[in-house]
Amino acid sequence: MELAIDVRDLRKSYRTPFRRKKVEALRGVTFQVTRGHIFGFVGPNGAGKTTTIRTLMGLIRPTGGAATILGHGIPSRAARFKVGFLPESPYFYDYLTVPELLDLAGRLFGVPAQLRKTRADELIERVGLGRARNQSLKKFSKGMLQRAGLAQALMNDPELVVLDEPMSGLDPIGRKDVRDLILELRDKGKTVFFSSHILADIEAIADQVAIIARGQLQAQGTPSELVRRTVLGIDVTVRIAPTAELGDLTDGATRVRRAADELSLTLPIEADVDAWLARARDKGAKVIEVTPRHETLEDLFMRRIATADASSEATEGRV
Ligand SMILES: Nc1ncnc2c1ncn2[C@@H]1O[C@H](COP(=O)(O)OP(=O)(O)OP(=O)(O)O)[C@@H](O)[C@H]1O
Ligand SMILES: [Mg+2]
Repeated sequence: MELAIDVRDLRKSYRTPFRRKKVEALRGVTFQVTRGHIFGFVGPNGAGKTTTIRTLMGLIRPTGGAATILGHGIPSRAARFKVGFLPESPYFYDYLTVPELLDLAGRLFGVPAQLRKTRADELIERVGLGRARNQSLKKFSKGMLQRAGLAQALMNDPELVVLDEPMSGLDPIGRKDVRDLILELRDKGKTVFFSSHILADIEAIADQVAIIARGQLQAQGTPSELVRRTVLGIDVTVRIAPTAELGDLTDGATRVRRAADELSLTLPIEADVDAWLARARDKGAKVIEVTPRHETLEDLFMRRIATADASSEATEGRV
């Protein structure tokens, strides 16, 4: 299995200049990204995603551990030419237009002039900025800047694309566009590594997922490996008159919601569902849906983040 990224025990501590306090942003992070895969890197704010990415891009130096990208140790100029990078808050010269921005990016990567032009035109259409070609970036919305940044990251036709929060600032249609673009890149054989704190974006398209919190990986694997296939409960929805007394129907249930003539709730796995349905029918209810509730990536995420918080509070309490 060929690796696009190999990270071993990566550590980074920052020293804040005035308080001279040490911030341990990465506390031994290890993961591997397979070539040709989409790898989703997810974690809450301050988890260490950007620090990991900036280290991989050679922009900051790790305090410990090692990493290779496309087989080159970091920092590597050779690898840099085969990598496309979208930073977290891309900053561009305000007075440029998108074609100028892309031309500049292409020049930095040594792309020949004719190819720069065709590639820039293609990318501008691909990210949906065709109508804004002649506007300066100064007039761009956050979403448009994000699109420009994505196009810029692809100017060198990279083997590996590293995107720090590519969906941030985008509306639902924009998020879908970026997801489609990432899938398209994979179809062309590229490797995509992207971070997000929004799990749905990652669950929808990633082949591999790593969850990071407080500078440490909390879980990694394929989305289906990560979520337990165990049934957490039984989701039930019935139609029932808004005036009907529910009595003991909600006993032991969670996620109880009653709106107009519908009642939805989750029964614990040990509940006798048949008996519950019989009691509901006695009260005039009509069954709409009964489905087992499996753990989602969201459940796992919340569980692991809670564990990370609890264990680091315990450690901090000791010192
Ligand atoms: N230059 C810096 N100096 C000091 N501390 C820093 C610096 N950059 C990041 N940190 C700290 O390192 C930790 C990890 O930050 P990082 O930016 O990597 O998180 P993140 O996962 O990208 O978060 P977000 O989702 O908010 O982008 C945080 O506690 C942050 O405050
Ligand atoms: Mg970040």
